[in-house]
Amino acid sequence: MSHKSAKDFFRPLAVGAPAPLREIPARPSRAIHFFDPSNEKMAAKIPDMVGTVDVLLGNLEDAVKADNKVAAREGLVRIAQATDFGPTQLWTRINSLDSPWVLDDLTTLVPAIGEKLDVIMVPKVQEPADIHYVDRILAQLEAKAGITKPILIHAILETARGVANVEEICGASPRMQGLSLGPADLAADRKMKTTRVGGGHPGYLVREDAPRGEDGLPDLDAKRAIFQQDLWHYTIAKMVDACATHGIYPYYGPFGDIKDTVACEDQFRNAFLLGCVGTWSLHPVQIKIANRVFSPSVEDIAHARRVVAAMGDGTGAVMIDGKMEDDASLKQCLVLVELAEKLAE
Ligand code: GLV
Ligand code: MG
Repeated sequence: MSHKSAKDFFRPLAVGAPAPLREIPARPSRAIHFFDPSNEKMAAKIPDMVGTVDVLLGNLEDAVKADNKVAAREGLVRIAQATDFGPTQLWTRINSLDSPWVLDDLTTLVPAIGEKLDVIMVPKVQEPADIHYVDRILAQLEAKAGITKPILIHAILETARGVANVEEICGASPRMQGLSLGPADLAADRKMKTTRVGGGHPGYLVREDAPRGEDGLPDLDAKRAIFQQDLWHYTIAKMVDACATHGIYPYYGPFGDIKDTVACEDQFRNAFLLGCVGTWSLHPVQIKIANRVFSPSVEDIAHARRVVAAMGDGTGAVMIDGKMEDDASLKQCLVLVELAEKLAE
């Protein structure tokens, strides 16, 4: 067997160079299901989950106790080596770059299970230099281990500085696969006044104008409609634009109120409609919700196919059910049709 030298594996990525627009492997990743590899009960269920979820992610960062960091890392190696993941992708979330564990995470995982790891999720990314750092270490470790399929990088957007630098982060390396919203850490970093993991807040609302009384003043006792607002709209929209600009994928993140499956579905659907391709799952019940929400509905696909068929060569305009459709609505319909086809593969 011929042995490749390290230089065969190093790619000449100039630090700070924008990633070229490219097609990264578009495998479905509607639900990224988190598990704690140091939790033996949870870990024992992983082999049976293969094929039921697009992505299984061994979490090493927050939610794993400091005393369990080594056990989680070793547990992930054991599970990955013993499991055939078939169509399911294997991701991990490493510890943050300012933690004492991250270097050991990378130097342990890449040689041991680098061939099986599709994506490494990097938390608390603040700037492109964070991605360059991980990119370079991965390149070195892959070269040493003879791994020829580059491990991709996914960044969590969960600091105000990260949000400010989101475009440069997306373009920081050809390894960039996507971004997730990290609403819990982001809320803390921004000094928002929430105490939850994702989702809305009943206090963040707009209220219908008060009717005026005979004195011309607002009647504060009148019943008025209240609309709860989406705390995450601005960040998701900004993230989606940055990802689309660089040809990578945006994701919602965690929804911590596991029992509120209705609000979870609403939050996931908003993210899907705004352009996200998937989300995190913190409990198997959220896998089902994500798979449903991040797949276009039968009705939407049927309508999209009708528009595509009616638009012929793709130019001009047609009327369908009283609505004008043209080149731009055709492009929207093609997004749905192509997604449906990808999911059916
Ligand atoms: C996820 O890591 C978050 O902080 O929301
Ligand atoms: Mg976080």
